[in-house]
Order: sequence, then C-alpha cells, then structure tokens
Amino acid sequence: MKLMFCLLALIVVSSAFGELYRGHQLFRIEINEEDDAHIMHKLGEANSEMLDFWTVTVPGRPMDVMVSSDFVDEFVNVLAKRKLSYEVIMTDVQDVIDKEAMESRKAREGRKKRDIMALEDFDYSIYHTYDEIAAPGEPGASDPKPVVYFEGGIHSREWVSPATVMYFTGKFLRRYMESDPEAVRTLGMFDLHIVPLLNCDGYNYTWTSNRLWRTSRKLNPDFGCIGTDLNRNFNAFWGGEGASPWPCSIIFRGFTDLDNVETQAIDNHFQKLKENNRVTKVFIDWHSYSQLILAPWSYDADIDPPIDTDKQIAAAGAMAKAMNETNNVPGGYIHGVGTDILYVSSGTSKDYGYASTPQATYSYTVELRDKGQFGFLLPANQIIPTGNESYYGVIGMLDWIYENDYN
Ligand SMILES: *[C@@H]1O[C@H](CO)[C@@H](O)[C@H](O)[C@H]1NC(C)=O
Ligand SMILES: *[C@@H]1O[C@H](CO)[C@@H](O)[C@H](O)[C@H]1NC(C)=O
Ligand SMILES: *[C@@H]1O[C@H](CO)[C@@H](O)[C@H](O)[C@H]1NC(C)=O
Ligand SMILES: [Zn+2]
Repeated sequence: MKLMFCLLALIVVSSAFGELYRGHQLFRIEINEEDDAHIMHKLGEANSEMLDFWTVTVPGRPMDVMVSSDFVDEFVNVLAKRKLSYEVIMTDVQDVIDKEAMESRKAREGRKKRDIMALEDFDYSIYHTYDEIAAPGEPGASDPKPVVYFEGGIHSREWVSPATVMYFTGKFLRRYMESDPEAVRTLGMFDLHIVPLLNCDGYNYTWTSNRLWRTSRKLNPDFGCIGTDLNRNFNAFWGGEGASPWPCSIIFRGFTDLDNVETQAIDNHFQKLKENNRVTKVFIDWHSYSQLILAPWSYDADIDPPIDTDKQIAAAGAMAKAMNETNNVPGGYIHGVGTDILYVSSGTSKDYGYASTPQATYSYTVELRDKGQFGFLLPANQIIPTGNESYYGVIGMLDWIYENDYN
C-alpha cells in the first residue's frame, strides 16, 4: 500500500512537467574563434526549436547549449566538422528536472500551507511557487533617500534570482529590526525598491508546465506562439543587435518597446519617481547563471564605454570582492563591461537603467550561481549561500558608493 502511494506521488511529480526534456542534452562547447561563435549563432537561429542557448556565444568562454534529443546526432556532426571540443554536462536534462521536483516535494512534506506567511515563517532555503511569493504587503515610508532598485525573476527559469532577492531582502529587514549596525547603516543611506519576481506569469508556468520557460506569457497573435524576452523589451536601444524581431524566438524583443505589462509597470514606477524628483542611484537586474557582474553597455560592441565607466567598474569590483570573500565560491564573480564579457544585446534592463527613465549611474546585470554544473537547475541547497554572498555583495557596493559618490 505504501509503495503504491509512493508510486502515485512519483507519477504526479513527473507529470507536472511532462517529459518535455527527455533525452535533451546539455553541451558545453569551447569557443575560441570569433568564427565559431558566429557559426553557433547562425546554427541557433536556423534551429531555434532544437537548440536552447543557456549561456551566450562569445569567443574565449565556454558556451552551454541544450540540444533536443532528435538533434543530438546532427549537432555532434557539426561540432566534429568544425573541430570544436565539447563535453556533455547533462546527458538527460529531464532527469535533472525530475530530481529537482522530487527534492522540492520532499522539502515541503509535513509543512503547513498558509495563505500569508509572516516574514519570520518564510523558508528561504527552498524554491517557492508564485502563490507563496505573492503575499500582500505594505510598502514602507521614509524620508526620501537615493533609490536603489533590485529586480529578480525577469527570466522565469532562473529560479535562484527571485530566491536570492527575497533572501537578502529578508535578511536586511531582520537585521535592521535587530539593530545590526551594517543593516542600519545601509538602510539609512538608501531607499530600497524591490521587485522580487517580475515575470510572474512566466514563473508560474515554470512550476506548472515547462521548467525551462524564459520569456513572458504574452500571446503573439498571428504567430501562434507566446512570450517576449522582457530583457530585450526595454526602451533603450530597442530593436538593435542581439534581440530577435521573430515572435517565436526566445529572445523576441516585442512588437514595440515596452509592449509587455511587466516592462511597462517598471517604466511607470520610474516615471513617477522622476516626476517627484527622486534620484535613482543603483539599478540591478538579478539573473542566473555564470557568476558575472556586468556594467553598461550591452547594445553595441564597438561603442566606447559610458563616461561613468570607471565608477561603475569600481563599485562592481567592490561587490565582486565581497561576494568572493563570503563563500569563496569556485570561479568567483567576474565583473566588467557587458559587451566585453557577454554577447551584444539590445533593449536590456541594464542599458535602460542607465540611459533611459531611471538614469541610475550604477546600473548592472548580475548573473548569480553557478558556472554551469547545474545552470538554471541550481539545487535548493545553494540558495542560502548564493543569497548570503549577494547580501554582502550589496553592502560592499553600497558602501563604496556612499564613500565615493553619495552627493
Ligand atoms: C498558474 O498556472 C496554473 C496552470 O496554468 C493556473 O491554473 C493558475 O491560475 C496560475 N496561477 C496564477 C497565480 O496565475
Ligand atoms: C554568511 O556568510 C558569512 C560570512 O562568510 C558567515 O559568517 C555566515 O555564517 C553566513 N550565513 C549564512 C546564513 O550562511
Ligand atoms: C573574484 O574571484 C575571481 C576568481 O578567483 C577573480 O578572478 C576575481 O578577480 C575576483 N574579483 C575580485 C574583485 O576580487
Ligand atoms: Zn537571465
């Protein structure tokens, strides 16, 4: 009887996600020549249903790409022809997804389900559903100070992003209430505006239907597909390179800029702040994975870095140093200018944060853990270490800004 119950539970767990990724493999490819990066890029465009790039294609850095089971043989042939070295990091992505679902279930067993969780009851060590995250709350009021904006979960499959933003937010609040000097100092210098989970619909979809969904859930009529890459939809160099005009692409930029409710809501918020003459000092969009802290620009590889680049890099360096020192995570966090490190992309939140409505001098994309062992499927036991190093990273950056560029 007991066995049968277990079996039933097992079936429920796996059917929650279906078998979408059965036999799909995650390849890590060494890319050393610009030519190879271009070939991979083109191959991806021509086979967008078969290839899902988990990291960006850029010479000198390994590229992680998930290959559909039907396409594995052909893909291996292409790699052999180009004499590219590779390793297979996951031989069956569905197995990793199923394992994650099983662990999540186990961690939840015996817990009471509550509609609204008090701050001190919220368990930061597990991944949460949308319903658990979306508890109503009142924004705090205070004397206006420079605004620091943090946003998690713009790409729904990057689960550690909202988990991290919630973790360090909770930690700031708890420590503040305990009169911890660091937390009191930080919250005394800045007003924190926090969106823990921007792409709510996409995130819910990763729990109910497709664990690796990235984009929004806006219908693209006439094309029969769903989703916009919200991180290509901002009104900053919108429509340029590194974003797709094709509605079925996972980097679809939208039909016009800000044509998704999520990006509109963000822009409305910053328009209001601007009308009230509020200064936004810091804008950080938290993603995973690769362990990077990226400053503007992203939209054009040939453009000079912005005039604030020295300050931006120094503040990012303070963050990287604090993140490195917290846990000595293998590989550490690398900081730099977006286009130097990643592939070009336009309409992104980081360029928006710096150049568009917010005009935050310090605007970044942070890519959290890991370096590719688990990628988007980062086990829950890494949430707290990732959140903890991010907490100290935020303090490191904000201290640097307070000391060097506050008034
Ligand atoms: C989450 O997705 C499920 C399945 O599609 C749907 O029934 C539910 O209403 C969604 N929840 C929210 C909060 O959108
Ligand atoms: C966070 O990191 C600090 C510094 O390494 C360490 O002392 C502390 O125990 C960590 N806290 C948690 C909850 O992991
Ligand atoms: C963080 O660690 C990485 C890996 O050791 C290193 O390359 C990088 O320079 C470190 N960053 C800082 C600011 O110390
Ligand atoms: Zn992302």
